Formats: sequence, C-alpha cells, structure tokens
Amino acid sequence: MKRLITMVVALISGAALAGGFELKGDAAKGEAQYKAMCVACHGEKGDGNGPAGAALTPKPTNFAAPDAAARLTDEYTYKVIKEGGAAVGKSPLMVSWAGSMKDDELRNVAAYVLKLKGPAAPAKKK
Ligand code: HEC
Repeated sequence: MKRLITMVVALISGAALAGGFELKGDAAKGEAQYKAMCVACHGEKGDGNGPAGAALTPKPTNFAAPDAAARLTDEYTYKVIKEGGAAVGKSPLMVSWAGSMKDDELRNVAAYVLKLKGPAAPAKKK
C-alpha cells in the first residue's frame, strides 16, 4: 500500500512537470535586476518610457498596455527575456539576457515584469 501511494505521488508530480511551464520567479528579488538593467528602456513603472527607450523604434513595450498584457504569459515573458525580442518576432533591440543573468535571475525579473503589467486584460475587439 505504501508503495502504491509512492507511485501515485510520483505519477502526479511527474504529470505536473510535463503539464506546463512553471516560472517560479521571485518578483521581490527581480526588482533589483529590473531597476539595474531594464529601467533605462522600459521605465520605472514598465510603461516603456525610460530615457533610453525614447529614441528606439519600435518603443520598448509598455507592459500594462492591454495588448502587451494579454501577450505576457509566464512562459512568453521568460522566453523574451532569456532569448531576446527576435526570438518571438519582436524587436532585436530587446536583447537576450541569458548571458548576463543566471536562470533564477531571469525568472525573478520575469516575475517582476508580470507584476508591473497588472491584471491581464482580455484582448479588445476591433
Ligand atoms: C535597449 C533598451 C531595452 C532594454 C535595456 C530592455 N528592453 Fe525589453 N524591450 C525593448 C524593446 C525595443 C522591446 C520590443 C518592442 C517591440 O518589438 O514592440 C522590448 C520588449 C520587451 C518585452 C515584451 C515583448 C513583447 O511582446 O512586447 C519584455 C517582457 C521585455 N522587453 C523585458 C525586458 C527586461 C526584463 C529587461 C531587463 C532585463 C529589458 N526588457 C531590457 C527594449 C529594451
């Protein structure tokens, strides 16, 4: 019986692993990274109005804009930060940060971005 329980527990946790992406980021820790490396373009509030972002075309994403907020799922956000904008069909001016941050730091900063975007708004119909 004990073995059966162990098997069931192993199966369930295995399914959870295969079932989807888990960000597991710590937004409180990610804030420091964000302020050091992202603010210049994305701005303090994540509205895309950082001083270095003003000169860019396209502008750095405003995370809270409804279309962006709808796009920014956990997995997508992590991927953009890790692999850069070009990896998701966005501007290559958004570089890959995989070389400057460890994986847990990438996850933490992604969690902070997700906090800045606010609650996801449903995509607007045109
Ligand atoms: C040199 C300016 C610059 C810096 C620094 C920068 N970004 Fe970006 N970021 C951009 C631009 C430009 C885009 C893409 C806008 C577009 O293609 O519409 C972008 C897009 C994004 C997106 C969203 C992509 C989408 O679908 O709109 C995320 C998330 C993001 N950046 C996170 C970060 C994080 C986290 C950092 C800091 C580790 C960071 N960025 C640093 C310029 C920058």
